[in-house]
Amino acid sequence: MSNAEFHARRMAAVPRGVATATTMFVDKAENAEIHDIEGNRYIDFASGIAVTNTGHRHPKIMEAVAKQCERFTHTAFQVAAYDVYVDLAERLNALAPIDDAKTIFFTTGAEATENAVKIARAHTGRPSVITFTGAFHGRTMLTMAMTGKVAPYKTKFGPMPGGIFHCPFPIAHHGVSEEQALKALDFLFKSDASPDQVAAIVIEPVQGEGGFYQTPKSFMHALRRICDEHGICLVADEVQSGFARTGKLFAIEHYGIEPDLIPVAKALGGGFPISGVIGKAHIMDAPDPGGLGGTYAGSPVACAAALAVLDVIEEEKLCERSMEVGRRMTERLEKIKQRNDSIPIGDIRGLGAMVAFELVKERGGHDPAPEAIKPVIETALAHGLILLSCGFYANTIRLLAPLTIPDAQLEEGLDVLETALTDSAEIRLAS
Ligand SMILES: Cc1ncc(COP(=O)(O)O)c(C=O)c1O
Repeated sequence: MSNAEFHARRMAAVPRGVATATTMFVDKAENAEIHDIEGNRYIDFASGIAVTNTGHRHPKIMEAVAKQCERFTHTAFQVAAYDVYVDLAERLNALAPIDDAKTIFFTTGAEATENAVKIARAHTGRPSVITFTGAFHGRTMLTMAMTGKVAPYKTKFGPMPGGIFHCPFPIAHHGVSEEQALKALDFLFKSDASPDQVAAIVIEPVQGEGGFYQTPKSFMHALRRICDEHGICLVADEVQSGFARTGKLFAIEHYGIEPDLIPVAKALGGGFPISGVIGKAHIMDAPDPGGLGGTYAGSPVACAAALAVLDVIEEEKLCERSMEVGRRMTERLEKIKQRNDSIPIGDIRGLGAMVAFELVKERGGHDPAPEAIKPVIETALAHGLILLSCGFYANTIRLLAPLTIPDAQLEEGLDVLETALTDSAEIRLAS
């Protein structure tokens, strides 16, 4: 059966609300390569949205999963507890930049972020939550409200749950300085959410879906001070930025501050669904027994995979590798930006291998060109490279290659990217 035939079946059987970035259907995947059902090979610069940092089907992870499957696959931690859950919690408590931590597991990133809010509310006894414009925290009712972008995440789904307030995220080249963002937070405290009623400020150290904008260091430090002053929990959503993606195990380690709670997911499981909240022990213990959990939360198979993921990150020095992959990507992008036959590239940014660039209307400008994204992604796919877009202005392409990608494949992928950015410029000129 062809990709086109499967696509027709998919359109008839699956609602359009779950959109797919590519038109091919996967047959198999290995490390940084995906093969479709027609036998085409692709280099994967998406990693299943920042999940396979350790590559597809890493042998160590597959072995750990197989071993766990020989023992048991599910008992529900709430019914009969098991060792790998506790092993993983202990391991993350020791690794996270939080003194005296405890960890609880869930299944999806949204669940982790939402449970961080539940824990913060239980600890503070306060209702309000502050998040940022451009933030993405998930698609459940609460995390959708926390997300700072209307289309497509909130369109047709209102009303939103109460108690969620948005503050502008500082992005200098889009006209919001740190000073203005802090001023807006102050206005928010006076107009809508008195600080003594705020349970949590939730921020991504590097905005993911929002466009890979890094939270400025001084801004993060200011938030820490404000949270300390008012007894607010500072929540660092590391669902997309965690597990070596930015060159550190946790992106918040770049900041030298201690967050109160860290929701994690995605790359923790290396392709097996697991998420969690790591946090200060006295905060984590605020909810009463039975208040937290989930039938599949902390699946033993996914816990075994996650333990192997942490081994692989350490043994293969993936934090260092992340810096190298990121350096190669940004250097190449800077070169492509200088070419006068490519689509105009604006801001190029990256922390480790969490790299993105903006497509803009004119060389040297910042005016977003979202219409240029589709041709680039389609041309790249036709040449065997999987790319993902993102961005508050929908004009950003993010590069999320597995950190285990061999150099030759990384360069091959960047060659295709260069072709896509120049070929698409021709397509645009011709149309
Ligand atoms: C920062 C962040 N938080 C939360 C989520 C939600 O995770 P999930 O899609 O697993 O529910 C995402 C997903 O992209 C994310 O990037």
